[in-house]
Amino acid sequence: MSPQSIGVVMNGVTGRMGYRQHLVRSVLAINEQGGVTLSDGGRVLLRPVLVGRSAEKLERLAGAHGIADWTTDLDTALADDANLIYFDAQVTQARVKAVLAAIEAGKHIYAEKPTAETYGDALALAEAATARGVKNGVVQDKLFLPGLLKLKRLIDGGFFGRILSVRGEFGYWVFEGDWQDAQRPSWNYRTEDGGGIVLDMFPHWAYVLENLFGRVTSVYAQAVTHIPERVDERGETYRATADDAAYGVFELEGGIIAQINSSWSVRVNRDELVEFQVDGTHGSAVAGLRDCRVQHRAATPKPVWNPDLPATARFRDGWQEVPDNAEFDNGFKIQWELFVRHVVEDAPFPYDFASGARGVRLAELGLLSSAEGRRLPVEH
Ligand SMILES: NC(=O)c1ccc[n+]([C@@H]2O[C@H](COP(=O)([O-])OP(=O)(O)OC[C@H]3O[C@@H](n4cnc5c(N)ncnc54)[C@H](O)[C@@H]3O)[C@@H](O)[C@H]2O)c1
Repeated sequence: MSPQSIGVVMNGVTGRMGYRQHLVRSVLAINEQGGVTLSDGGRVLLRPVLVGRSAEKLERLAGAHGIADWTTDLDTALADDANLIYFDAQVTQARVKAVLAAIEAGKHIYAEKPTAETYGDALALAEAATARGVKNGVVQDKLFLPGLLKLKRLIDGGFFGRILSVRGEFGYWVFEGDWQDAQRPSWNYRTEDGGGIVLDMFPHWAYVLENLFGRVTSVYAQAVTHIPERVDERGETYRATADDAAYGVFELEGGIIAQINSSWSVRVNRDELVEFQVDGTHGSAVAGLRDCRVQHRAATPKPVWNPDLPATARFRDGWQEVPDNAEFDNGFKIQWELFVRHVVEDAPFPYDFASGARGVRLAELGLLSSAEGRRLPVEH
């Protein structure tokens, strides 16, 4: 059976995520391995059509990777019936308009998170996609990280007993841009350009919590701008109008309490850039991007509080590594394969625009909670 080939319009591929994770590590990697394998053994190759604002950048990128099709005109790419999928990794602010045009053109849509800046817009996208009958998906890459897959394995295996709490630490120091270049784009730090760590990270926390532990039923957050002034890509000083750290407490279905710190103004004293500690009646785990360690209740030490004595045990030594037991592929690529199978053979894909909208809503409520200084319910 010779593989079929489908056109994928890719908008925003000159950006950090669009280029590295989606074009190189997913779409091109899928083609290199011979395509996406379908349930009947058939294969699907992806023919990327690069879309962006700069012809020069697109031409260079296409040339570097042997890609035949690129254009600065989205409508032209959308008008081609051979292009079945529209993918969007533009800056968040540009997403809604382009996605609506692609829905209108009858394309199946896959998009980066957040799907929109406001819950109203995110919901409108979900409704428009449903009304037009097109398949829709949002990137929820963290679910496919080895560390979180191991955590899911522990949950499914009944390791924790009753889960009590989740504490997450996410973040690293993003340089201000004056004496060392910032390692994130400057729009991230301007609310007027769709920036802010709450809008960036709460959509991730929404689907991580929902898929592993239960939906969020209330949120209390304190969003702050620790570094008020930064230097942009052109070396110009600008005012950081968006939040660069958020301290959030989330109640989940079943009474689990999750507390997650998200910060671009924190220095890393952890094993990984994100870590989640889960405590249950029967055991605890600490999961990062790759690794996961556990402590069973039977192996739990009994510390006694006495500040007059040095610590009696090296507490971190009393944890056990969870084995890989599998080969882990790139999470973005795995999700692309799932979406392609969803489009081509109607395989299940629960990471739709409705779940994307729940992520945007959590961000919106988080910011409102911070502005009003109170805990807000999240209705379902
Ligand atoms: N899944 C994840 O883990 C993850 C991580 C980072 C970013 N993201 C999301 O991916 C998206 C892109 O983020 P990034 O860090 O790659 O940003 P980036 O600034 O590196 O890239 C943005 C892309 O959008 C294009 N663009 C910039 N301004 C535009 C405008 N006004 N109109 C149209 N296009 C414009 C750029 O040319 C570039 O191709 C964001 O929505 C962000 O939230 C997701």
